[in-house]
Amino acid sequence: MTKEFPNGFLWGGATAANQYEGAYNEGGKGLSVQDVTPKGGFGPITDMPTEDNLKLEGIDFYHRYKEDIALFAEMGFKVYRTSIAWSRIFPNGDETEPNEAGLQFYDDVFDELHKYGIEPLVTLSHYETPLYLSKKYNGWASRELVGFYEKYVRTVFNRYKDKVKYWLTFNEINSILHAPFMSGGILTSPEELSKQDLYQAVHHELVASASATKIAKEINPDFQIGCMVLAMPTYPMTPNPDDVVAAMDAERQNYIFSDIHVRGKYPNYMKRFFHDHNISIHFELGDEELLAENTVDFISFSYYMSATASAQPENYEQGKGNIMGGIPNPYLEASEWGWQIDPKGLYLVLNNFYDRYQIPLFIVENGLGAIDELIVEENGNKTVNDDYRISYLSDHLVQVREAIRDGVEVMGYTSWGCIDLVSASTAEMKKRYGFIYVDRNNDGSGTLNRYKKKSFYWYKDIIKTNGATLD
Ligand code: BG6
Repeated sequence: MTKEFPNGFLWGGATAANQYEGAYNEGGKGLSVQDVTPKGGFGPITDMPTEDNLKLEGIDFYHRYKEDIALFAEMGFKVYRTSIAWSRIFPNGDETEPNEAGLQFYDDVFDELHKYGIEPLVTLSHYETPLYLSKKYNGWASRELVGFYEKYVRTVFNRYKDKVKYWLTFNEINSILHAPFMSGGILTSPEELSKQDLYQAVHHELVASASATKIAKEINPDFQIGCMVLAMPTYPMTPNPDDVVAAMDAERQNYIFSDIHVRGKYPNYMKRFFHDHNISIHFELGDEELLAENTVDFISFSYYMSATASAQPENYEQGKGNIMGGIPNPYLEASEWGWQIDPKGLYLVLNNFYDRYQIPLFIVENGLGAIDELIVEENGNKTVNDDYRISYLSDHLVQVREAIRDGVEVMGYTSWGCIDLVSASTAEMKKRYGFIYVDRNNDGSGTLNRYKKKSFYWYKDIIKTNGATLD
């Protein structure tokens, strides 16, 4: 049986407000945790925004969204993933009334997308906890955040109920275990943060996520709500059963999040884990029912790389990677930033999720962060010959097709950073993912002009043929 990308497959690109909007203090926006991490999500944290923080200006999407959306439309995007910056809607997070200018901005963006028939896919919280909530309540370590988040999501669900259908509750919700400030606005340093407090914060986010699903369906039963997890299949370093168990344990730290979102309850292996680590999660009255009754419609995930695990990690040098790291796999090559390139890992992720849950899957991030060189062609046009990016994306899409042939239900694919933006982990501009080059450099210089890379035309063709031109 030959099965290709289904009709209606949602091809597109993905971004996040804090990495590309800029205008960090315009239109009544408050500060978010991103505005005080000039070197990226792993710190250091500054008191106030500092000039060296490239995210403050981003790529100025706030003022250039019409030009950028026109370029997405030219590529034929069916869907476009972005996030709403929470602190544009509730600048501190605890106001009684939302900020109208912030709401209007996203109205304009969604209208512009619809003008071209592009469906928005909106992340409600993409590493953008309002800084005030972080400072006053220690972010998601506090239960109070659930109420503030509920108020925020109710506001945007009501406002955009006829403009947005697809919503994601928290970007890479599992990343809170590894980057508590960036992901959860928790100011306590990771060294001082107890496992008890960390997993309690996880519980708060899970409850908030279920609550968002409940509110969403009350406001518009047609809304499609997804969880969003950082997917990183973990291989055992050797066939030694101890390494196999270490890999299983590492994967379970990711699976808890999708298990709870899809099955509506904590898995038994987590009860054992909590017992072994002296953790006791405080459930408020109603939490159990809320989780059970408000499961997600689909699972979305990011996929950049796989990892390996060993029962004796001290015997290996730790590698670099997307938020979690891991031991380098001798069978794989790595990007310039040390992220291992593993297209088959995406095939595994898709199959593993589908075997486990049998609900639709959406790949909402995938891509190669690389250094690009802007060149001038004979006709004077500026472009980037990014064959390396084309081959990375093409190899991954071939594996998506393989999974579809296995019968996995895949809703769509949004490549990360479809337009160059500021990196989340390192806050650099030179780590580029886009089909569109943005003239901005690590030192903040540049015209902010946009140029189409070679991959722009390649992706346009992939979308036009619904993937038929993949090798
Ligand atoms: C994901 C995040 O972890 O990876 C994005 O959801 C991020 O926000 C992307 O940009 C790529 O990571 P980086 O560090 O290269 O920007």
